Amino acid sequence: MKTIIEPFRVKSVEPFRMTTRTEREAILRKAHFNPFLIHGKDVMIDLLTDSGTSAMSAEQWAGIMRGDECYAGSESYFRLQRVVAELTGFDHVLPTHQGRASERILFELIGGKGKVVPNNSHFDTTRANVEHSGATAVDLPIREASCPSERHPFKGNMDIDALEATIARVGVQSIPAVMVTITNNTCGGQPVSLENLRAVRRICDTHGLPLILDACRFAENAWFIRTREAGYEHVPVRSIVREMFDLADGATISSKKDGLVNIGGLLLLRSPELFRKASNLLILTEGYVTYGGLAGRDLEAMAQGFTEIVEEDYLSYRIRSVEYLGEKLLKAGVQIIDPPGGHAIYIDAAHLAPHIPRDQFPGQSVVCGLYRIGGIRSCEIGSVMAGPGRPPAMELVRLAIPRRVYTQSHMDYVAEACEELFERRSELRGMRITEAPDVLRHFTAKFEEID
Ligand code: F0G
Repeated sequence: MKTIIEPFRVKSVEPFRMTTRTEREAILRKAHFNPFLIHGKDVMIDLLTDSGTSAMSAEQWAGIMRGDECYAGSESYFRLQRVVAELTGFDHVLPTHQGRASERILFELIGGKGKVVPNNSHFDTTRANVEHSGATAVDLPIREASCPSERHPFKGNMDIDALEATIARVGVQSIPAVMVTITNNTCGGQPVSLENLRAVRRICDTHGLPLILDACRFAENAWFIRTREAGYEHVPVRSIVREMFDLADGATISSKKDGLVNIGGLLLLRSPELFRKASNLLILTEGYVTYGGLAGRDLEAMAQGFTEIVEEDYLSYRIRSVEYLGEKLLKAGVQIIDPPGGHAIYIDAAHLAPHIPRDQFPGQSVVCGLYRIGGIRSCEIGSVMAGPGRPPAMELVRLAIPRRVYTQSHMDYVAEACEELFERRSELRGMRITEAPDVLRHFTAKFEEID
């Protein structure tokens, strides 16, 4: 069969309110043209993030009932530990409330003033945690990553020459670890090849450096390896996942993505010494080592989520459903980061609205346009998010697709809204910020449209 279908039936539904364009115009103005300030009940298709927005399975909900709420030594923790160890080969497993808690603990231990952390591309919170520790975060994506229309099977790769050059420039003693983010969210949810990961590992070995994965979307990355990397077409996804983790000394994971849960994270470490120190920090701010700031039921749902995420029928459907939307947009003339990523479609807003200068935030204008037309919530990843004085490589709008939540007709609807937006793109207007905090301004900034 050519049609790739959802390998699940819908058992429970969550109705959303259909709004009219007139209503949405008023809602948008009340929210000062910032989608973060729109109430969820006023959104029809919510593509703000794929994080914590997954639909849980019947087995996960059953796990919620089974959750063992012991303060110490919860059975739910031991199940999670077994599942994660089997999947990744890491025996030292710390649960955390979400990815950034793992990052905070890790960089409190290995970061600090004068240190430099190279990454293919840091996610915002990873960068913020590196910088909060006093260290410098350096992004080393490949050249193709900053050109939306240039196709590359592994556009998330790290630039190996740039990594060597960075080590030579700052000195190996300044680098506590090299990080690789799979998939590379900042560059469009693009995958990293095993060949690239192995090359990074070789450089790490040469210099005696640890390699840490930011592995939020490890299963999507593994599926891309399976379908795009020579020699892996018949290798089971679980083996590919294992091969990726075998190359690493540690991993920070937000389970809100490929863990298929609404809250939770993991910190995996190979070194018993580092694990001991991280456990002490976990107890200080998150909770005891067998729950890490979560309830036993959350650990149970997470264990089940990590079991379901590597099912190949699911991954085939998942990656195809995102690609399906991407193909429709490209066909309509909307430039996206091509090829489509694993968890999201990234619209090139500078291409869609070339009449809006970058300091008038073309991405924010596209975000507002999509909400007006279809009640669709998306997210600007461009000059607004980057903040003043840090011009980003691209002006993007991300349509992040929650896992197992929306159907093909929802995606057809999103594509239709994007087509209309493209046809009426000359009506898009520049935006001006009227109020904004100094840091992370995209969450709360207020805007107005320029006449
Ligand atoms: N690393 C990556 C690559 C991420 O995409 C995220 C979160 C995190 C770390 C932090 O995880 O949210 O659980 O603390 N990304 C979400 C997003 C927020 O919308 O892309 P967290």
